[in-house]
Parts: sequence; structure tokens; C-alpha cells
Amino acid sequence: MMDSRGPVKLCITSGKGGVGKTSLTVNLAYALAANQKRVLIVDGDLGLANVDVLLGLSVDRTIRDVLDGGVDPAQAVAQVSAGVGVLPASSGVPELVNLGPEEQDQLGDLLTAIMVPYDYVLLDTAAGIGPSVLWFNTFTEHNLVITGPDPASLTDAYALIKVLHRDYARDRFHVVVNFVMSEQEAVQIYESLAAVTQRFLDLKPVYLGGIPRDTSVMKAARSQRPFVQQSPAQPAARAVFKLAERIIELA
Ligand SMILES: Nc1ncnc2c1ncn2[C@@H]1O[C@H](COP(=O)(O)OP(=O)(O)OP(=O)(O)O)[C@@H](O)[C@H]1O
Ligand SMILES: [Mg+2]
Repeated sequence: MMDSRGPVKLCITSGKGGVGKTSLTVNLAYALAANQKRVLIVDGDLGLANVDVLLGLSVDRTIRDVLDGGVDPAQAVAQVSAGVGVLPASSGVPELVNLGPEEQDQLGDLLTAIMVPYDYVLLDTAAGIGPSVLWFNTFTEHNLVITGPDPASLTDAYALIKVLHRDYARDRFHVVVNFVMSEQEAVQIYESLAAVTQRFLDLKPVYLGGIPRDTSVMKAARSQRPFVQQSPAQPAARAVFKLAERIIELA
């Protein structure tokens, strides 16, 4: 049940690129909507926006247009299905990638205003630990860190958690392990990450779940549809529906 606290905000982030942030954001939104939740997706990958591409959206207004003025923030939200709205970003404009302090305040205010009617806000971030990525991560109360099973993405996930915990006092981390062969592998990877965060940061992230490597993910991306809609019975979709249930339990 929602109350006066407003929507639950989650930032989906990874450190390393290409580990599945955008796929997870989009599909989690549809999975939450399938549970009668209203969800706002914010494309926080300000330089290389992808949410619109995954959904086959033609974008005419972006976060940038709203920040530059003249565009009503609520009008920049594209309603992509009954329960899902998208606030798109722009692509290929490198100088817009990093928000200055004033723009961060402005973006915070406008997001706070447009998110009122939603139950969940999912923020997809760029890879890395640049200023905009860190800002999005501190704007939300939950940080959902996605990693693959490979050492490079695990190392980057740890580095991101370290910076957010040490420099921004963040301590509500949730871990999703993508590209796994089994749930057991996902748990093992999570445990190896949690062992390091506990040892060096005295912090234990919450295990949310794993997502199997699944060809239906790329097939759906090619047809610009969420895989939870295109192939709901396939392993990746089933895993994302389970994640949605866990997230609903969190709130
Ligand atoms: N579970 C999966 N099984 C198979 N392919 C996947 C899976 N998850 C993601 N992919 C594919 O991996 C690629 C990267 O995914 P995605 O774009 O979501 O990653 P990202 O973390 O958002 O990347 P970036 O850091 O560039 O924003 C895409 O081609 C996507 O279709
Ligand atoms: Mg992405």
C-alpha cells in the first residue's frame, strides 16, 4: 500500500557497462505494472539514452528540454503502456552528460514533482561512477546494483558500492546477478560480493535474485518490446517477475 511517503525510488546501476541495466529497468517496470503498480522510468543515461530504443519510442521531448525550460515536465513523460511512463533522455550530446549542481537541484525538483502519481520510479543510469551516475544514486532511497558473474563487473560493482557508501553514506543496496546459468550461480556471485563489502565496508547488501542468460532477451530487444511481454514464460522473464515480487515486498 502506498502512503504519504510517495513512490519507492530505485536506481539501477552497475559500474561496468553492458551488464543489463537498461534491459532490467524496462522489464522490471512492465513486471511491476503487471502487478497493478504505476511505474515511471527515468532514463538517467544522459549521453547515450537507450530506454526509448528498447521500447521503440520516438522521442520528441527529453529531460534536457525540460531542464532547458519551455517544456512542461509532465508532458515530457511518454505513456508507453497503461501503467508505465517514460521520461526519456537524449543521445549523442556529450556536453549534456554531466549535470552541474544547479541542474541537479532542478532535476531533483522536477522529478519530485512528476513522480507523485506513481508507485515506483526506476532510474536507469549510465555505466561508470561519474558525477551524474552518483547523483542519480543518491537521489533514490534504494540502490539496485546489477553485476555479471565475471570478475570485471564484480570489481566495478564493488567499487561503486564503496564510493556510494563511503562518500555518500548509502546503505540500502540490492544485488541482481545477470547472465547466470542457474540460481545457485547467482547466489554464489552475490555471496562473493557480499563477503567483500562486509569485510571492507561492514555492509551487507540484500540479495534480490539472478537473471539467466537467455536468447529471448536479445530477440525482444530486436523487436523493441519488453521480454516480459514478448516471452513471459522464458527464463529471463520469469526471473524478472520474481524480482518484481521481491521489490514489492521491500516497500
Ligand atoms: N539475461 C540476458 N540474457 C541475454 N542477453 C542479455 C541479458 N541481459 C542483457 N542482455 C543483452 O546484453 C546487452 C547489454 O544490455 P543492456 O543494454 O541492458 O546493458 P546496460 O548495462 O544498460 O549497458 P550500458 O552500460 O551500455 O548502458 C544487450 O544487448 C541486452 O539485450
Ligand atoms: Mg544502458
